[in-house]
This record gives sequence, C-alpha cells and structure tokens, in this order.
Amino acid sequence: MKLILLGPPGSGKGTQSRLLCEKLGLPQISTGDILREARQRRTALGKKTEGYITQGQLVPDALMLALMEERLNQKDCQAGYILDGFPRTVAQAKEFDDRLEHRGETLNAVINFLVPHEELVKRLTGRRQCKGCGAGYHLEYAPPQRRGVCDRCGGVLFQRDDDKAETIEKRLAIYQDQTSPLTGVYERAGLLKNIIGVGGSELIFRKILHEIGLS
Ligand code: AP5
Repeated sequence: MKLILLGPPGSGKGTQSRLLCEKLGLPQISTGDILREARQRRTALGKKTEGYITQGQLVPDALMLALMEERLNQKDCQAGYILDGFPRTVAQAKEFDDRLEHRGETLNAVINFLVPHEELVKRLTGRRQCKGCGAGYHLEYAPPQRRGVCDRCGGVLFQRDDDKAETIEKRLAIYQDQTSPLTGVYERAGLLKNIIGVGGSELIFRKILHEIGLS
C-alpha cells in the first residue's frame, strides 16, 4: 500500500503515520524527520537545508526530489510506504506521479487532514520531543509525567526551532500558498480522502482505516 498524508503543520501527519506504519508494517517516510536527522548529524544535506527549516521555509524542490528518489529506492519501500510531508509542492507531486507511472505503480489514497487554524497553533506551540528516543509529547494533550523529562527513556524534552510562535504562522501561510493546491490535484485524480483531524488520535486513526478499506 502507498499512502500520502497531507495536511498543514500540526494536523497530525506524524502521529497518524506512526500508527499506520505500525498497523501495516510499512516504513514511515517523514521528510521532516530525515532533514532534522541530517541536521543533527551535520551531514552535507543537513548543512544545506537547516536554514530553510529553522525559518519555516520549504527546502528547494530539486533537493527534496533527489533525497526522495534515494529513499524510495531502498529495499524496505518495495511493499509500500506512508509518505508524511512529501510531496509538498505541485512540482514535487508531478515528479512523484511521473515516477509512479514510469514504474507501473499506483497510489492507494491521499489522506487530507482538516484542522482549524487555532487548533494547529495550539498543537504546535505545545509540542515537545525527546532528545534521546524521539518520542513525541504535547504539554496539554499528551504531557510527560515529569515536566521536561521523557517517560520512555528519561531523556530531555525540547521544542523544535520551527515550533516557535513567529515561525508557526509563516509555516501555515506557506502551506496555504504552496501545498494546499495539492488537494485539488489529488481530488481530480480521485484519490483524496478528507478526514476531520480533530478529536482523539485513536478516533482519527479508525476514520483513516475506514477510508482505506481496512475496517
Ligand atoms: P515536517 O516535519 O514535515 O513538519 P510539518 O509538515 O510542518 O508537520 P509537523 O511535523 O509540524 O506536524 P504533523 O502534521 O506531523 O503533526 P504531529 O503529528 O507532529 O517538516 C518540517 C520542515 O522540513 C518544513 O517546514 C520544511 O522546511 C522541510 N520539509 C519537509 N518536507 C519537505 C518537502 N517535501 N519539501 C520542502 N521542504 C520540506 O502533531 C502535532 C502536535 O499535535 C503533537 O504535539 C501531537 O502530539 C499533537 N496531536 C496530534 N494529533 C492530535 C490530536 N488528534 N489531538 C490532539 N493533539 C494531537
């Protein structure tokens, strides 16, 4: 199965793609995670892209397409994958579509999360992540037992640079401008499944399974 999770920053793509990957035994391909890891490891890709990420801007298409070509060619993608954060521009979607067609492959669905603006801001400002194991938390919705400490590994929790209030509004505006046109593209292709992304994560997960015919 090949799925794209689409939606603005904070709409729950990462949360739901982890649940889907666990259920379906497929790799989660989060371009944001790949870029943050490259930055942390100070690789050439990390150095080239960190400015874009911290300022809330999109990384140029050519870089993203090269990165994804390499990732999708890996063996674990043969049976399918869940894309979280890619494609994010019409140019990326076009290139990805050409790649599928060239290989005689098809996309099963594009899950599009609908979440009100104020809720997105609340989710992003409250999000925290563990420096050690990467576990995700939210100060209000999924708080750790001890403030600033990971329940799972005892690591330190931190806030992503791009989750600062001033950068969040910029990311949301860029989403509207550059990524939201993809909903029209995938709707015309008959692939778009709109999901109201408000409510408990388990409820949203069940809605997705229903939309993709797994419940
Ligand atoms: P990326 O990491 O992809 O960030 P994003 O799209 O902005 O999405 P987020 O990770 O912020 O949110 P999410 O939708 O995954 O929500 P989450 O599940 O975490 O990209 C980062 C940057 O990398 C980009 O800005 C860009 O610079 C670059 N980049 C990446 N891909 C690119 C591409 N293709 N092209 C160009 N540049 C690219 O949830 C958020 C919070 O809400 C969490 O705290 C969570 O616990 C909570 N939450 C989740 N679900 C619920 C719920 N149902 N109820 C209550 N709380 C919830």
